[in-house]
Amino acid sequence: MERVDILILGAGGAGMMCAIQAARRGRDVLLIDHSTKIGGKILISGGGRCNFTNVGAGPANYVSENPHFTKSALSRFPPAAFIEMMRDHEIPFHERKHGQLFCDGSAQAIVDLLKSECDQAGARFRLGYKIERVSRPDRPDSTGFKVDTDHGAFECESLVVATGGLSLPKLGATGIGYDIARQFGLKVTETAPALDGFTFTPEQEVLFRELAGLSVNCSITCNGISFRENLLFTHAGLSGPVALQASLHWKKGDEIKIDLLPGNDLFQWFLAKKKTGNRSVVKNLLGEMLPNRLASRLCDLYFHSLLPLPQVSERELEAFCNLLHAWVLKPSGTVGYQKAEVTRGGVDTSELSSKTMEARKVPGLYFIGEVVDVTGWLGGYNFQWVWSSGWAAGQAV
Ligand code: FDA
Repeated sequence: MERVDILILGAGGAGMMCAIQAARRGRDVLLIDHSTKIGGKILISGGGRCNFTNVGAGPANYVSENPHFTKSALSRFPPAAFIEMMRDHEIPFHERKHGQLFCDGSAQAIVDLLKSECDQAGARFRLGYKIERVSRPDRPDSTGFKVDTDHGAFECESLVVATGGLSLPKLGATGIGYDIARQFGLKVTETAPALDGFTFTPEQEVLFRELAGLSVNCSITCNGISFRENLLFTHAGLSGPVALQASLHWKKGDEIKIDLLPGNDLFQWFLAKKKTGNRSVVKNLLGEMLPNRLASRLCDLYFHSLLPLPQVSERELEAFCNLLHAWVLKPSGTVGYQKAEVTRGGVDTSELSSKTMEARKVPGLYFIGEVVDVTGWLGGYNFQWVWSSGWAAGQAV
Protein backbone atom coordinates (compact mmCIF):
# COMPACT_ATOMS: atom_id res chain seq x y z
CA MET A 1 0.00 0.00 0.00
CA GLU A 2 1.50 3.33 -1.06
CA ARG A 3 0.35 6.43 0.82
CA VAL A 4 0.41 9.92 -0.71
CA ASP A 5 -1.14 13.27 0.12
CA ILE A 6 -2.83 13.75 -3.24
CA LEU A 7 -3.79 11.14 -5.77
CA ILE A 8 -4.80 12.47 -9.16
CA LEU A 9 -6.69 10.16 -11.50
CA GLY A 10 -5.91 11.11 -15.10
CA ALA A 11 -2.68 12.54 -16.49
CA GLY A 12 -4.26 14.83 -19.06
CA GLY A 13 -3.99 18.62 -19.05
CA ALA A 14 -6.18 19.15 -15.99
CA GLY A 15 -4.50 16.46 -13.89
CA MET A 16 -1.01 17.71 -14.70
CA MET A 17 -1.85 21.38 -14.06
CA CYS A 18 -3.29 20.44 -10.66
CA ALA A 19 -0.25 18.26 -9.90
CA ILE A 20 2.17 21.11 -10.66
CA GLN A 21 0.36 23.53 -8.37
CA ALA A 22 -0.13 21.08 -5.49
CA ALA A 23 3.43 19.74 -5.65
CA ARG A 24 4.82 23.29 -5.71
CA ARG A 25 2.97 23.80 -2.42
CA GLY A 26 4.94 20.91 -0.95
CA ARG A 27 2.22 18.27 -1.27
CA ASP A 28 3.20 14.71 -2.13
CA VAL A 29 1.41 14.15 -5.45
CA LEU A 30 0.95 11.03 -7.54
CA LEU A 31 -0.81 10.88 -10.92
CA ILE A 32 -2.32 7.60 -12.12
CA ASP A 33 -3.39 6.93 -15.68
CA HIS A 34 -4.31 3.74 -17.49
CA SER A 35 -2.72 5.09 -20.63
CA THR A 36 1.03 4.72 -21.03
CA LYS A 37 1.20 8.19 -22.61
CA ILE A 38 0.48 11.45 -20.81
CA GLY A 39 -1.56 14.28 -22.36
CA GLY A 40 -2.81 12.19 -25.28
CA LYS A 41 -5.53 14.68 -26.20
CA ILE A 42 -3.15 17.63 -26.10
CA LEU A 43 -1.02 15.90 -28.72
CA ILE A 44 -3.84 15.41 -31.21
CA SER A 45 -5.58 18.72 -30.58
CA GLY A 46 -5.63 21.62 -32.99
CA GLY A 47 -4.36 19.45 -35.83
CA GLY A 48 -1.24 18.63 -33.78
CA ARG A 49 -0.55 22.26 -32.84
CA CYS A 50 -2.95 22.49 -29.87
CA ASN A 51 -5.25 25.49 -29.73
CA PHE A 52 -4.18 25.87 -26.11
CA THR A 53 -6.26 28.89 -25.12
CA ASN A 54 -8.33 31.78 -26.41
CA VAL A 55 -7.32 35.32 -25.49
CA GLY A 56 -10.97 36.28 -25.02
CA ALA A 57 -12.01 33.27 -22.89
CA GLY A 58 -14.69 34.22 -20.38
CA PRO A 59 -17.72 32.63 -18.71
CA ALA A 60 -19.94 33.44 -21.73
CA ASN A 61 -17.95 30.96 -23.83
CA TYR A 62 -18.99 27.96 -21.75
CA VAL A 63 -22.10 25.81 -21.56
CA SER A 64 -23.02 24.63 -18.07
CA GLU A 65 -26.17 24.38 -15.98
CA ASN A 66 -24.58 27.13 -13.85
CA PRO A 67 -23.29 29.81 -16.25
CA HIS A 68 -21.44 31.53 -13.37
CA PHE A 69 -19.47 28.49 -12.24
CA THR A 70 -16.37 29.21 -14.36
CA LYS A 71 -16.00 32.82 -13.14
CA SER A 72 -13.76 32.24 -10.14
CA ALA A 73 -11.27 29.84 -11.75
CA LEU A 74 -11.09 31.77 -15.04
CA SER A 75 -10.46 35.05 -13.26
CA ARG A 76 -7.75 33.62 -10.99
CA PHE A 77 -6.01 31.65 -13.76
CA PRO A 78 -6.91 33.51 -16.98
CA PRO A 79 -5.52 32.91 -20.49
CA ALA A 80 -2.67 35.35 -19.74
CA ALA A 81 -1.43 33.05 -16.96
CA PHE A 82 -1.04 30.09 -19.31
CA ILE A 83 0.50 32.34 -21.97
CA GLU A 84 3.09 33.33 -19.39
CA MET A 85 3.93 29.65 -18.83
CA MET A 86 4.35 29.25 -22.60
CA ARG A 87 6.70 32.27 -22.66
CA ASP A 88 8.68 30.98 -19.65
CA HIS A 89 9.25 27.76 -21.56
CA GLU A 90 10.04 29.68 -24.77
CA ILE A 91 7.37 27.83 -26.73
CA PRO A 92 6.56 29.83 -29.87
CA PHE A 93 2.89 30.37 -30.63
CA HIS A 94 0.66 32.48 -32.85
CA GLU A 95 -2.84 33.92 -32.85
CA ARG A 96 -5.39 32.88 -35.45
CA LYS A 97 -8.84 34.34 -36.01
CA HIS A 98 -11.25 34.81 -33.09
CA GLY A 99 -8.38 35.02 -30.56
CA GLN A 100 -7.34 31.38 -30.86
CA LEU A 101 -3.73 30.66 -29.82
CA PHE A 102 -1.84 27.73 -31.38
CA CYS A 103 1.71 26.41 -31.01
CA ASP A 104 3.91 27.28 -33.99
CA GLY A 105 5.30 23.75 -33.82
CA SER A 106 4.13 20.48 -32.33
CA ALA A 107 1.72 20.23 -29.39
CA GLN A 108 4.35 17.95 -27.83
CA ALA A 109 5.93 21.17 -26.53
CA ILE A 110 2.94 21.68 -24.21
CA VAL A 111 3.07 18.11 -22.93
CA ASP A 112 6.81 18.60 -22.33
CA LEU A 113 6.10 21.87 -20.49
CA LEU A 114 3.61 20.17 -18.17
CA LYS A 115 5.81 17.13 -17.61
CA SER A 116 8.91 19.17 -16.83
CA GLU A 117 6.94 21.38 -14.39
CA CYS A 118 5.56 18.24 -12.71
CA ASP A 119 9.08 16.76 -12.46
CA GLN A 120 10.53 19.97 -11.12
CA ALA A 121 7.83 20.28 -8.47
CA GLY A 122 8.20 16.62 -7.51
CA ALA A 123 4.87 15.20 -8.75
CA ARG A 124 5.22 11.55 -9.75
CA PHE A 125 3.45 9.43 -12.39
CA ARG A 126 2.20 5.86 -12.51
CA LEU A 127 1.27 5.11 -16.11
CA GLY A 128 -0.39 2.00 -17.49
CA TYR A 129 -2.20 1.49 -14.18
CA LYS A 130 -5.79 0.29 -14.44
CA ILE A 131 -8.07 1.67 -11.75
CA GLU A 132 -10.17 -1.12 -10.29
CA ARG A 133 -11.95 0.43 -7.34
CA VAL A 134 -12.22 3.67 -5.43
CA SER A 135 -13.31 3.39 -1.80
CA ARG A 136 -12.78 4.70 1.70
CA PRO A 137 -9.79 3.16 3.57
CA ASP A 138 -10.62 0.37 6.02
CA ARG A 139 -9.89 2.49 9.08
CA PRO A 140 -12.21 3.58 11.86
CA ASP A 141 -11.84 7.31 11.03
CA SER A 142 -12.56 6.51 7.38
CA THR A 143 -11.16 9.77 6.02
CA GLY A 144 -9.25 9.92 2.78
CA PHE A 145 -9.57 7.52 -0.13
CA LYS A 146 -8.26 4.17 -1.27
CA VAL A 147 -7.70 3.39 -4.95
CA ASP A 148 -7.11 -0.21 -6.02
CA THR A 149 -5.30 -0.69 -9.31
CA ASP A 150 -4.01 -3.70 -11.19
CA HIS A 151 -0.55 -2.72 -9.82
CA GLY A 152 -1.54 -2.48 -6.16
CA ALA A 153 -3.42 -0.13 -3.86
CA PHE A 154 -2.90 3.53 -2.97
CA GLU A 155 -4.21 5.63 -0.13
CA CYS A 156 -4.52 9.39 -0.18
CA GLU A 157 -5.81 12.29 1.83
CA SER A 158 -7.34 14.00 -1.22
CA LEU A 159 -8.49 12.44 -4.46
CA VAL A 160 -8.64 14.54 -7.63
CA VAL A 161 -10.68 13.14 -10.50
CA ALA A 162 -9.31 14.44 -13.82
CA THR A 163 -10.35 11.57 -16.06
CA GLY A 164 -11.99 13.71 -18.77
CA GLY A 165 -15.13 12.91 -20.71
CA LEU A 166 -16.32 10.21 -23.07
CA SER A 167 -15.09 11.62 -26.36
CA LEU A 168 -12.53 9.62 -28.33
CA PRO A 169 -12.68 6.27 -26.50
CA LYS A 170 -9.83 5.01 -28.68
CA LEU A 171 -7.55 7.45 -26.81
CA GLY A 172 -8.55 5.96 -23.46
CA ALA A 173 -11.62 8.05 -22.58
CA THR A 174 -13.91 6.37 -20.06
CA GLY A 175 -16.82 7.39 -17.90
CA ILE A 176 -15.02 6.49 -14.68
CA GLY A 177 -15.14 10.07 -13.40
CA TYR A 178 -18.93 10.10 -13.59
CA ASP A 179 -19.07 6.68 -11.85
CA ILE A 180 -16.89 7.96 -9.00
CA ALA A 181 -19.12 11.03 -8.63
CA ARG A 182 -22.26 8.88 -8.45
CA GLN A 183 -20.60 6.45 -6.06
CA PHE A 184 -20.10 9.32 -3.60
CA GLY A 185 -23.67 10.54 -4.03
CA LEU A 186 -22.98 13.45 -6.40
CA LYS A 187 -25.31 14.34 -9.26
CA VAL A 188 -24.11 14.06 -12.85
CA THR A 189 -25.93 16.02 -15.55
CA GLU A 190 -26.90 14.34 -18.79
CA THR A 191 -23.86 13.80 -21.01
CA ALA A 192 -23.72 14.00 -24.80
CA PRO A 193 -21.07 14.22 -27.49
CA ALA A 194 -20.48 17.85 -28.53
CA LEU A 195 -18.38 19.88 -30.97
CA ASP A 196 -18.93 17.01 -33.39
CA GLY A 197 -21.30 18.36 -36.08
CA PHE A 198 -24.61 16.98 -37.31
CA THR A 199 -25.85 13.85 -39.03
CA PHE A 200 -28.58 13.88 -41.69
CA THR A 201 -31.82 11.96 -41.48
CA PRO A 202 -32.06 9.27 -44.21
CA GLU A 203 -34.26 11.66 -46.26
CA GLN A 204 -31.79 14.54 -45.90
CA GLU A 205 -28.94 12.22 -46.86
CA VAL A 206 -30.63 11.49 -50.17
CA LEU A 207 -31.30 15.19 -50.79
CA PHE A 208 -27.87 16.53 -49.87
CA ARG A 209 -25.26 13.80 -50.26
CA GLU A 210 -24.22 15.12 -53.68
CA LEU A 211 -23.03 18.28 -51.89
CA ALA A 212 -20.33 16.33 -50.00
CA GLY A 213 -17.03 18.16 -49.91
CA LEU A 214 -18.59 21.55 -50.50
CA SER A 215 -17.80 24.37 -48.09
CA VAL A 216 -19.58 27.68 -47.57
CA ASN A 217 -19.20 30.53 -45.09
CA CYS A 218 -22.51 30.87 -43.28
CA SER A 219 -24.08 31.34 -39.89
CA ILE A 220 -25.98 28.74 -37.89
CA THR A 221 -28.36 29.56 -35.07
CA CYS A 222 -29.22 26.87 -32.55
CA ASN A 223 -31.27 27.52 -29.43
CA GLY A 224 -30.81 31.28 -29.82
CA ILE A 225 -27.01 31.19 -30.16
CA SER A 226 -25.45 32.04 -33.54
CA PHE A 227 -22.03 31.30 -34.95
CA ARG A 228 -20.54 32.38 -38.26
CA GLU A 229 -17.81 30.25 -39.80
CA ASN A 230 -17.29 27.68 -42.55
CA LEU A 231 -19.83 24.92 -43.07
CA LEU A 232 -18.72 21.68 -44.69
CA PHE A 233 -21.21 19.27 -46.27
CA THR A 234 -20.20 15.63 -45.80
CA HIS A 235 -21.78 12.43 -47.13
CA ALA A 236 -23.54 11.95 -43.82
CA GLY A 237 -24.19 15.43 -42.47
CA LEU A 238 -22.84 18.88 -41.66
CA SER A 239 -19.34 19.52 -40.38
CA GLY A 240 -16.85 22.40 -40.34
CA PRO A 241 -16.32 24.87 -37.49
CA VAL A 242 -19.80 26.40 -37.61
CA ALA A 243 -21.54 23.03 -37.38
CA LEU A 244 -19.22 21.92 -34.58
CA GLN A 245 -19.98 25.09 -32.60
CA ALA A 246 -23.74 24.74 -33.15
CA SER A 247 -23.69 21.08 -32.10
CA LEU A 248 -22.60 22.17 -28.61
CA HIS A 249 -25.97 23.89 -28.16
CA TRP A 250 -28.13 21.26 -29.87
CA LYS A 251 -30.37 18.74 -28.13
CA LYS A 252 -32.27 15.85 -29.73
CA GLY A 253 -35.23 17.13 -31.75
CA ASP A 254 -33.96 20.72 -32.06
CA GLU A 255 -33.95 22.58 -35.36
CA ILE A 256 -31.01 24.59 -36.64
CA LYS A 257 -31.36 27.72 -38.76
CA ILE A 258 -28.75 28.35 -41.42
CA ASP A 259 -28.18 31.76 -43.02
CA LEU A 260 -26.36 30.82 -46.22
CA LEU A 261 -25.56 34.44 -47.05
CA PRO A 262 -25.07 36.25 -43.74
CA GLY A 263 -24.57 39.98 -44.07
CA ASN A 264 -26.14 40.07 -47.55
CA ASP A 265 -29.65 40.97 -48.61
CA LEU A 266 -30.20 38.43 -51.34
CA PHE A 267 -33.63 39.71 -52.36
CA GLN A 268 -32.28 43.25 -52.87
CA TRP A 269 -29.38 41.80 -54.83
CA PHE A 270 -31.82 40.02 -57.19
CA LEU A 271 -33.93 43.20 -57.50
CA ALA A 272 -30.82 45.17 -58.48
CA LYS A 273 -30.06 42.53 -61.13
CA LYS A 274 -33.62 42.80 -62.36
CA LYS A 275 -33.32 46.57 -62.66
CA THR A 276 -30.32 46.22 -64.92
CA GLY A 277 -32.44 44.04 -67.26
CA ASN A 278 -30.59 40.82 -66.44
CA ARG A 279 -32.45 37.93 -68.15
CA SER A 280 -30.65 34.97 -66.53
CA VAL A 281 -32.55 32.29 -64.67
CA VAL A 282 -32.38 32.43 -60.87
CA LYS A 283 -30.44 29.16 -60.65
CA ASN A 284 -27.56 30.58 -62.71
CA LEU A 285 -27.59 33.93 -60.93
CA LEU A 286 -27.51 32.31 -57.49
CA GLY A 287 -24.31 30.58 -58.61
CA GLU A 288 -22.66 34.03 -58.41
CA MET A 289 -23.42 34.14 -54.67
CA LEU A 290 -23.08 30.49 -53.63
CA PRO A 291 -21.06 27.53 -54.89
CA ASN A 292 -22.70 26.34 -58.13
CA ARG A 293 -23.54 22.85 -56.88
CA LEU A 294 -25.26 24.26 -53.81
CA ALA A 295 -27.13 26.95 -55.74
CA SER A 296 -28.36 24.36 -58.19
CA ARG A 297 -29.48 21.90 -55.47
CA LEU A 298 -31.31 24.59 -53.51
CA CYS A 299 -33.14 25.80 -56.62
CA ASP A 300 -34.09 22.23 -57.56
CA LEU A 301 -35.54 21.72 -54.11
CA TYR A 302 -37.10 25.06 -53.25
CA PHE A 303 -37.46 27.19 -56.38
CA HIS A 304 -39.05 25.54 -59.31
CA SER A 305 -39.27 28.38 -61.82
CA LEU A 306 -36.95 28.26 -64.81
CA LEU A 307 -38.29 31.56 -66.16
CA PRO A 308 -35.82 34.39 -66.84
CA LEU A 309 -35.49 36.83 -63.94
CA PRO A 310 -37.77 39.57 -65.34
CA GLN A 311 -40.67 37.09 -65.46
CA VAL A 312 -40.24 35.75 -61.91
CA SER A 313 -42.77 37.09 -59.41
CA GLU A 314 -41.19 39.20 -56.69
CA ARG A 315 -43.26 37.45 -54.03
CA GLU A 316 -41.93 34.05 -55.05
CA LEU A 317 -38.38 35.40 -55.26
CA GLU A 318 -38.59 37.05 -51.84
CA ALA A 319 -39.88 33.84 -50.23
CA PHE A 320 -36.98 31.89 -51.73
CA CYS A 321 -34.45 34.49 -50.53
CA ASN A 322 -35.94 34.40 -47.04
CA LEU A 323 -35.57 30.65 -47.05
CA LEU A 324 -31.87 30.90 -47.93
CA HIS A 325 -31.31 33.37 -45.11
CA ALA A 326 -33.14 31.13 -42.63
CA TRP A 327 -32.85 27.58 -43.95
CA VAL A 328 -34.31 25.34 -41.25
CA LEU A 329 -33.10 21.77 -40.87
CA LYS A 330 -33.81 19.23 -38.17
CA PRO A 331 -30.71 17.01 -37.99
CA SER A 332 -31.06 13.38 -37.03
CA GLY A 333 -28.35 13.69 -34.38
CA THR A 334 -24.75 14.65 -33.82
CA VAL A 335 -21.81 12.62 -35.07
CA GLY A 336 -20.98 10.94 -31.75
CA TYR A 337 -18.19 10.26 -29.29
CA GLN A 338 -15.89 8.69 -31.91
CA LYS A 339 -15.36 12.16 -33.41
CA ALA A 340 -16.58 14.57 -30.71
CA GLU A 341 -14.00 17.01 -29.35
CA VAL A 342 -15.73 17.11 -25.99
CA THR A 343 -18.50 15.73 -23.81
CA ARG A 344 -21.24 18.17 -22.85
CA GLY A 345 -22.51 17.74 -19.29
CA GLY A 346 -20.78 15.96 -16.44
CA VAL A 347 -20.39 16.30 -12.69
CA ASP A 348 -23.07 18.76 -11.61
CA THR A 349 -21.49 22.09 -10.71
CA SER A 350 -23.98 22.55 -7.85
CA GLU A 351 -22.07 19.74 -6.11
CA LEU A 352 -18.70 21.53 -6.35
CA SER A 353 -17.07 24.65 -4.94
CA SER A 354 -16.35 26.96 -7.87
CA LYS A 355 -13.28 28.20 -5.99
CA THR A 356 -11.61 24.86 -5.25
CA MET A 357 -13.51 22.25 -7.32
CA GLU A 358 -13.99 20.24 -4.10
CA ALA A 359 -17.21 18.27 -3.69
CA ARG A 360 -19.28 20.10 -1.09
CA LYS A 361 -20.57 16.94 0.56
CA VAL A 362 -17.38 14.89 0.23
CA PRO A 363 -14.41 16.79 1.67
CA GLY A 364 -11.17 15.79 -0.03
CA LEU A 365 -12.78 14.77 -3.33
CA TYR A 366 -12.17 17.09 -6.29
CA PHE A 367 -13.27 17.13 -9.95
CA ILE A 368 -11.47 19.15 -12.61
CA GLY A 369 -11.36 19.56 -16.39
CA GLU A 370 -13.76 18.01 -18.84
CA VAL A 371 -15.37 15.62 -16.33
CA VAL A 372 -17.18 18.65 -14.86
CA ASP A 373 -20.37 20.02 -16.43
CA VAL A 374 -18.49 22.88 -18.11
CA THR A 375 -18.06 22.70 -21.88
CA GLY A 376 -16.36 25.38 -23.91
CA TRP A 377 -16.92 26.55 -27.44
CA LEU A 378 -14.55 25.48 -30.18
CA GLY A 379 -11.44 27.68 -30.18
CA GLY A 380 -9.17 26.94 -27.20
CA TYR A 381 -11.83 27.48 -24.54
CA ASN A 382 -11.83 23.86 -23.37
CA PHE A 383 -8.11 23.83 -22.66
CA GLN A 384 -8.45 27.13 -20.82
CA TRP A 385 -11.03 25.49 -18.55
CA VAL A 386 -8.67 22.54 -18.08
CA TRP A 387 -5.82 24.87 -16.98
CA SER A 388 -8.03 27.12 -14.81
CA SER A 389 -9.90 24.35 -12.99
CA GLY A 390 -6.70 22.32 -12.53
CA TRP A 391 -4.93 25.38 -11.16
CA ALA A 392 -7.83 26.20 -8.79
CA ALA A 393 -7.88 22.69 -7.31
CA GLY A 394 -4.09 22.70 -7.11
CA GLN A 395 -4.21 25.67 -4.71
CA ALA A 396 -6.58 23.86 -2.36
CA VAL A 397 -5.76 20.14 -2.29
P1 FDA B 1 -8.27 14.33 -20.79
O1 FDA B 1 -9.26 13.51 -21.53
O2 FDA B 1 -7.30 15.12 -21.58
O3 FDA B 1 -7.42 13.43 -19.79
C1 FDA B 1 -8.04 12.42 -19.03
C2 FDA B 1 -7.01 11.37 -18.69
O4 FDA B 1 -7.64 10.40 -17.86
C3 FDA B 1 -6.49 10.63 -19.93
O5 FDA B 1 -5.08 10.62 -19.92
C4 FDA B 1 -7.06 9.23 -19.78
O6 FDA B 1 -6.20 8.22 -20.25
C5 FDA B 1 -7.27 9.12 -18.28
N1 FDA B 1 -8.34 8.17 -17.92
C6 FDA B 1 -9.61 8.14 -18.40
N2 FDA B 1 -10.26 7.10 -17.87
C7 FDA B 1 -9.40 6.46 -17.06
C8 FDA B 1 -9.47 5.29 -16.25
N3 FDA B 1 -10.60 4.56 -16.20
N4 FDA B 1 -8.39 4.93 -15.55
C9 FDA B 1 -7.24 5.67 -15.62
N5 FDA B 1 -7.09 6.76 -16.37
C10 FDA B 1 -8.16 7.15 -17.08
N6 FDA B 1 -9.74 21.77 -26.78
C11 FDA B 1 -9.17 22.99 -26.97
O7 FDA B 1 -9.34 23.86 -26.12
N7 FDA B 1 -8.44 23.25 -28.09
C12 FDA B 1 -8.23 22.31 -29.06
O8 FDA B 1 -7.50 22.55 -30.04
C13 FDA B 1 -8.86 21.04 -28.90
N8 FDA B 1 -8.76 20.10 -29.87
C14 FDA B 1 -9.31 18.86 -29.69
C15 FDA B 1 -9.19 17.90 -30.69
C16 FDA B 1 -9.72 16.63 -30.50
C17 FDA B 1 -9.66 15.63 -31.60
C18 FDA B 1 -10.35 16.31 -29.26
C19 FDA B 1 -10.90 14.94 -28.99
C20 FDA B 1 -10.46 17.27 -28.26
C21 FDA B 1 -9.96 18.56 -28.46
N9 FDA B 1 -10.11 19.55 -27.49
C22 FDA B 1 -9.57 20.80 -27.72
C23 FDA B 1 -10.74 19.27 -26.18
C24 FDA B 1 -9.63 18.97 -25.13
O9 FDA B 1 -8.75 17.99 -25.66
C25 FDA B 1 -10.25 18.46 -23.84
O10 FDA B 1 -11.18 19.39 -23.36
C26 FDA B 1 -9.15 18.26 -22.78
O11 FDA B 1 -8.15 17.38 -23.25
C27 FDA B 1 -9.74 17.72 -21.49
O12 FDA B 1 -8.67 17.58 -20.58
P2 FDA B 1 -8.83 16.72 -19.26
O13 FDA B 1 -7.49 16.74 -18.61
O14 FDA B 1 -10.00 17.13 -18.49
O15 FDA B 1 -9.12 15.25 -19.80
